Amino acid sequence: MVVRQEPAQGKKGVIFSGMRPTGLLHLGNYMGALKNWVELQEEYDCIYCAVDIHALTTIETAEEAAQIQPNIEDMILDWLAAGIDPERSIVFVQSHVPEVMTLHSLLSMVTPLGWLMRVPTFKDKVRQMSETEESVNYGLVGYPILQTADIILYKADTVPVGQDQVPHLELAREIVRRFNNRYGEIFPEPQANLTEDPLIVGLDGQQKMSKTLDNHLELAATPEETTRRVMTAFTDPQRTRRDIPGRPNLCNVYALHKTFSPAAEVTAVYDECVTAQRGCVDCKRHLAASINDYLAELRERRNALKQRPGYVQEVLADGAAKARVIAQKTIEEVYSKMGLA
Ligand code: TRP
Ligand code: SF4
Repeated sequence: MVVRQEPAQGKKGVIFSGMRPTGLLHLGNYMGALKNWVELQEEYDCIYCAVDIHALTTIETAEEAAQIQPNIEDMILDWLAAGIDPERSIVFVQSHVPEVMTLHSLLSMVTPLGWLMRVPTFKDKVRQMSETEESVNYGLVGYPILQTADIILYKADTVPVGQDQVPHLELAREIVRRFNNRYGEIFPEPQANLTEDPLIVGLDGQQKMSKTLDNHLELAATPEETTRRVMTAFTDPQRTRRDIPGRPNLCNVYALHKTFSPAAEVTAVYDECVTAQRGCVDCKRHLAASINDYLAELRERRNALKQRPGYVQEVLADGAAKARVIAQKTIEEVYSKMGLA
């Protein structure tokens, strides 16, 4: 693809989004983010980034750091298998374009500490890490500045994210406004493109599928693994016997059927559950089959891509080269405006 800072002919704008490399993605990541990223390629010039420097803000040991590389590889294979197209979009690793760290430093000169400390995700992370605002690493405080640098280094105007990232986007806009006010209009104010999150529930009855809670289904799992995990799912706790009618609306297996099974099957599940005609074991077996059908093509593509030695690294090298051309141009401009040229 041709690298442009202006959107290509007929495109609506430039998209940037990032994901921390946590390894194999699950159905919640797919339905809540990745699927949308794939679709946006039709209408926007897209730049998708594995944000490994952001990962370091919460990494505490060398062993965890050693997981970054395999996690990137696993995640990028999921992206490509899902339909992120490196011919159309720029796919790269954050640290491969070190200009982002330059911009992070320079943006930190226009960002008041108070703005950073007020971000709700900052307070949450400090608590999660059992730190205090005094003891927590400086990198975590600057997390949203780095995120802003990610986006505006490529002058992206649209950022597909979930609701949880809205405060970061607000902050990004404030930083951009302040920068532009002081040094001249260089950067567009990035807009959040809110991903409609269909909320994929967990196998353990929790309201959200999450890797940390280990209640998830990996995209890359084999059909057998998926079936085995689905069979462990919690159902209506009142249904202790096969002949007791169930309450599908209180059952995560039913919620997952609604997302992944054909409409006729969903109706059948409901009717046969409330009349005790369908047992939970059978119900879960059907759900596993629906999910395996849903993921069959993605998995086939993933297996094929995995067979190609060096392919992921090639895609990432190519992506970084394209990203760097844009990044260096932006840094030159920023240097000049900030009196550093
Ligand atoms: N903070 C985002 C998250 O945790 C990841 C991220 C980093 C990002 N840089 C970004 C998202 C730039 C959108 C744009 O999900
Ligand atoms: Fe849930 Fe299905 Fe069992 Fe009903 S039959 S309680 S929907 S698993």
